Amino acid sequence: MKAIAIIGMQWGDEGKGKISHLLSERADLVVRFNGGPNAGHTVVDAYGTIRLHHIPTGSLREGVTGVLAHGMVIDPWVLREELQEISRQGRPEPRLLISERAHVILPYHKDREIGVGLAKSLGTTRRGIGPAYADKAARLGLRFIDLSDHELVQERVYKLLNATRVPGRPALDPERVAQELFEFYAVFRERLGDTQSHIRKALASGKTVVFEGAQGTLLDLDLGTYPYVTSSSTTVHGIGWGTGVPIREFSRVIGVLKAYTTRVGEGPFPSEDRGPQGALLRERGGEYGATTGRPRRCGWLDLVALRYAQQVNGFTELALTKLDVLSGLPWIPVCVAYRIGGERVEEFPASLRELSQVRPIYEQLPGWKEDIRKARSFADLPRAARDYVAYIQETLGVPVRIISLGPEPEATIFRD
Ligand code: IMP
Repeated sequence: MKAIAIIGMQWGDEGKGKISHLLSERADLVVRFNGGPNAGHTVVDAYGTIRLHHIPTGSLREGVTGVLAHGMVIDPWVLREELQEISRQGRPEPRLLISERAHVILPYHKDREIGVGLAKSLGTTRRGIGPAYADKAARLGLRFIDLSDHELVQERVYKLLNATRVPGRPALDPERVAQELFEFYAVFRERLGDTQSHIRKALASGKTVVFEGAQGTLLDLDLGTYPYVTSSSTTVHGIGWGTGVPIREFSRVIGVLKAYTTRVGEGPFPSEDRGPQGALLRERGGEYGATTGRPRRCGWLDLVALRYAQQVNGFTELALTKLDVLSGLPWIPVCVAYRIGGERVEEFPASLRELSQVRPIYEQLPGWKEDIRKARSFADLPRAARDYVAYIQETLGVPVRIISLGPEPEATIFRD
C-alpha cells in the first residue's frame, strides 16, 4: 500500500500545497478529504502561479487524477471558476473525480455564515463551510448525486431558502438556484463517481495515493481550539472519515509545519508576536490569506502545540517550510512550554479560557545571516539553520525529511 498523508500541524497555511504538488510527481491519485473552498493552496510552476481552492494541487500534473472525496463540501460555482482559471493559464484540463456523496455549498450558506455572525465572531472565510456542514449533519443538505433528481432539488432548495431567509441580505431566488444546480449537474456529471471504491481499488493494485489535508490540526472540529476551528476533521483521522477507505497502513504520514506560526481569523494563539518582529515575519513571508487576502497573525514556533499535533497524528516524518523567512534574525524565539498562573504546563489545554491566558515560555535559538534560498542540500545550510532543524526534530522525536526554502519546486531540500 502506498498511502501518503500530508497534514498541517498548525492553524493551516503551512505550505501543504507545495509539498503535495512535489510528492504527486510519482502519484496516481491525489485526494482531498475535508473542507472545501476555504482552503487556498498555491502552486508555482512552469505555467505560472495558481491558487486552488477545491482541486488538489497534484492533479495539475498530467497522469494524476484529483479526487474530491465525500468528506468535502463543494461550491460548484467556485469549482467552475477554478477549472476556468486552469484553462485560461493554458494548463491541460485536470482529471477529476468528484464524490457523488459530497455535499453542495449553496449561495445561502454563505449568507447564513455572515447572518448568524460566524464570519465576524470566529473570522471564518465566508465560503459557507460551517452552514454547509451544519445542514449535512442536520440531514437537510444536498449531495451531488441528488442534483440529478429535479423534484428533490426544487423541494429542498425551496425549503432551505424559505426557512432561512437572512435578515439584511437580499433574498435568493429558489427557482434560479435550483435551475443553476440542474445545469451544474450536467457540467459535472461526467466527473461524478464512487470515490470510495476508486481509491480502494487504486490502493489494492499498488498505486500511490496522496491524501492532501486542508487547514491544520489546530483547526480540527474536535481536536482544535474549539469554537475557533473549521467544521471538518483536519487530522490524519479525517482520511477515514472523509473517504470511507479503510487504510491499514500509511507508507508515510507527513506533518507539515512552518518554521514559525501563523493564524488567520480569531482565536487563541499563545506565541503570537504583535510587535515589529511579527510584522517582519508577515512581510517577509507574504503572510496574507490565499482565500480571503486577510493579513495573517504571525508569531514563533510553538512546540507545545506541535507536540500535541504529533501525538494526535503520529507523523512518520516532517516537512518544514519557509525556513528562509527566518534568515537575518539574530535570535529566534521558540515557545517550549506555557505558564498558566504560576505553573509550567507542557500539555496543550482544551480549555479556551486557559489557552487565552497562557504566557509562552521561550528559549532563544541563535539565528543566521546568510540568504539560504539557494541551498540545495542540508550541508549547504549555515550551522545555526541546521541546529534549528535539529532542535525541532529532537523535540518532536520525528525526522525532518523535507525543508522548503521558497515557493518554487527547486527550492527544496530532501533528506534521507
Ligand atoms: P471556515 O473554515 O471558513 O469556517 O473558518 C474557520 C476558521 O478556520 C477561521 O479562523 C479561518 O480563518 C480558518 N481557516 C479555514 N480554512 C483555512 C485555511 O485553509 N488556512 C488557514 N485558515 C483557515
